[in-house]
Amino acid sequence: MQQPGSFADLVALGPWETLPAVQQPEWRDHPAYDEACRFLASAPALVPATEIRQLREALANTDALLLQLGDCAESFYECTPRHTSEKLKVIDSLGDRLAALSGRTVVRVGRLGGQFAKPRSAATEWYEAVRIPSFRGHMINSDIGTSETRKSHPRRMVWAYEASDLVQRVVRTYRQGDGRAVPADGPWSSHEALVVDYESRLIRREPDSGDRYLGSTHLPWVGERTRQPDGAHIAMLASVVNPVGCKIGPRAKPEEVLAVCAALDPRREPGRLVLIVRMGRDRIAEALPPIVRAVAGAGHPAIWLSDPMHGNTVKLPTGLKTRYLGDMTTEAVRCREILDAHGQRAAGLHIEVAAEDVTECVGGPVEDEDDLQRFYTSLCDPRLNPRQAATLIEAWSSGTT
Ligand code: PEP
Ligand code: CO
Repeated sequence: MQQPGSFADLVALGPWETLPAVQQPEWRDHPAYDEACRFLASAPALVPATEIRQLREALANTDALLLQLGDCAESFYECTPRHTSEKLKVIDSLGDRLAALSGRTVVRVGRLGGQFAKPRSAATEWYEAVRIPSFRGHMINSDIGTSETRKSHPRRMVWAYEASDLVQRVVRTYRQGDGRAVPADGPWSSHEALVVDYESRLIRREPDSGDRYLGSTHLPWVGERTRQPDGAHIAMLASVVNPVGCKIGPRAKPEEVLAVCAALDPRREPGRLVLIVRMGRDRIAEALPPIVRAVAGAGHPAIWLSDPMHGNTVKLPTGLKTRYLGDMTTEAVRCREILDAHGQRAAGLHIEVAAEDVTECVGGPVEDEDDLQRFYTSLCDPRLNPRQAATLIEAWSSGTT
């Protein structure tokens, strides 16, 4: 007889184990790998299936908006109750702002409680004149810039689980707190389901239905670099009942997106599929319409979000990455116009925003590039500060830049 939650029971979880998975750490030969996997496979789910069902129901309401907000890369060192409460307050107040502007229910989802792994376009980067492996998120390696600390270590998955647990507890207490009229509005958690070793070991069965759910977060999404229709990430998320997101970049082909939609949403279920458009200010007008037509034509009741961050990143001559608020408002408004014109559900925004007054993106209170050095703390991509995020939300809501 197998032990409950035994390794043997849980590794052979699904067909994606044999499918190609890009952007994975190479750590399967590490002496700590098996133990880390076994820990995750037998650990309690971080979020229960009941909450996942509640979020799905909230998203199935076609009048509701969805606001997905938070760090590009969460830090293990900012998972304390204090940090988490600050983040939740910002998420909630921006949600309230959008609700007031739109007169609609706003479901709030944080990029938090597990956003610890980053896909990277380059495997190495320059750090003080030395070439070292790129930072890939605290679940994989350290942000400290040496060749040694940038080696991936599988025990970081256990650390990620513990850090997520800490955050999820605070999120749950906040959501259920006194005076919150509608807990179904959130805040809920989300992250990119990037590391297959981690995510696949947190899949559990829902007690009553026997359905599989991903117990690491409420709303996992698959990134622009890992959304291959025949790859491991899509197959893994296809096997669970959570609402799932997929990023769509400027080079996505309609037939590719259709294949992803068919895999993730074969039954055309409301509240299941979130398509997160991140094409860039100058590409969206051409790239998005054929995709919207294809998805609408195939009958998927997709929840469309605009992520106006990831297609508008620029690298300054100093090497610093930034984004311009004007580019982001333009893309977000264009995205909404295209969806409206096709009669599709422009449901909201996906934004990287810090709880603190960071100076990582130019615009509003951050006057120019010289201002950026003042308070730039992101571990990865440049985030908006709360005032800049409010400007973006106002522009998207009013439909004018
Ligand atoms: C992200 O959301 O931080 C990210 C890496 O996005 P994308 O997959 O769209 O590039
Ligand atoms: Co990012």
